[in-house]
Amino acid sequence: MPRNMFPTTLSILATLLILFPSFSNAQYKPPLFVFGDSLYDDGMTLYNGVKGAGAEFWPYGETFFKKPVGRYSDGRLIPDFIAQFAGLPFVQPYLLPGLKDYTKGVNFASAGACVLVELRPQTINLKMQIDYFIEMVGKLKQQVGEAQAKKLLSDGVYLFNIAGNDYVTLLQKNVKKLPLSNFKKYRHLNMIIGNLTTHIKTIYNQGARKFAFQNLGPLGCMPSMKYMLNFNGSCVEEPQQLARMHNTAFASLAKRLQGELPGFKYSIYDFYTALYLRVLYGTRYGFRESETGCCGSGNYNGDFTCQKKGTSFTVCSNPNDYLWFDAAHPTDKANQAFSKEFWSGGSNLVAPYNLQNLFT
Ligand SMILES: *[C@@H]1O[C@H](CO)[C@@H](O)[C@H](O)[C@H]1NC(C)=O
Ligand SMILES: *[C@@H]1O[C@H](CO)[C@@H](O)[C@H](O)[C@H]1NC(C)=O
Repeated sequence: MPRNMFPTTLSILATLLILFPSFSNAQYKPPLFVFGDSLYDDGMTLYNGVKGAGAEFWPYGETFFKKPVGRYSDGRLIPDFIAQFAGLPFVQPYLLPGLKDYTKGVNFASAGACVLVELRPQTINLKMQIDYFIEMVGKLKQQVGEAQAKKLLSDGVYLFNIAGNDYVTLLQKNVKKLPLSNFKKYRHLNMIIGNLTTHIKTIYNQGARKFAFQNLGPLGCMPSMKYMLNFNGSCVEEPQQLARMHNTAFASLAKRLQGELPGFKYSIYDFYTALYLRVLYGTRYGFRESETGCCGSGNYNGDFTCQKKGTSFTVCSNPNDYLWFDAAHPTDKANQAFSKEFWSGGSNLVAPYNLQNLFT
């Protein structure tokens, strides 16, 4: 390298800093906005007035936080790891009392949430989460001004995990009348996809451009599903088929939206396959137990007793050996593995972009 190269580089850098002041702000990171159900809930249900939701009790949180923090796991959830990879602090629940800073993102996800509003009236469904988001946009504009808010909203990544509860509830309500008719399945699917389309467009119209979706997991492998359907084996087929049906329809929707909405970019993480492979071949992925939950009671620990204070349940001594922490939610260790794939996985796992691409 010639000797005079170094000062030249410095002066180019100085020029850049004058031309683009945001260069000098090393702290700037696109925010992360989170929507969904208990897989992503990091405290909303602690503050929405519904008592006994579960994650406010031990042993939730025992591994990482050393106390219950409203997360349905022994430790961190996927949005926690994603925030960490993106250089952001943990994303705060929107209802956290005293929350004033919206520039790093906000988490609206709430346990039990569905897309279809009539299914679980006690919960903060996706529609309510979107309404909170619109309210937040107003607060963000007050916090940083119109121009900066616009930039944050369009740079931000909008992370979703939703609709699993819609199908679980459909099965629950028809548990005596299975298998479901094709008519019932498609009517349910079409309403869910229709509402998701509306909600995504609403957020897009507020300035959102970068969307990331975790597709539906293998619902039939959940300990809770096997318990409910009194099934012995790895995974029950009917819920599996519903999840695959939804995932196929959702993938076409995302593709269609990309064609329809200028600047719309997205990522779909194939959570279905990622979790299914770990259920079937747990030991290959470092999970000694991949079918029974660490915490709960009943067959596969599939009864949701882990989250009910006063009812008896057992807790395993080493959650790191387990894929499932309770009847429906993965452990901290499993969530870390999923997050790494979502963040930087190849196109067989996450496509058309991975999260790392979306954040830059
Ligand atoms: C949204 O869901 C409701 C049921 O909650 C349904 O009646 C309505 O048709 C759905 N909307 C669309 C656009 O599909
Ligand atoms: C499943 O296995 C459990 C435990 O071995 C047993 O109690 C139960 O009866 C079995 N259920 C079915 C449907 O085979």
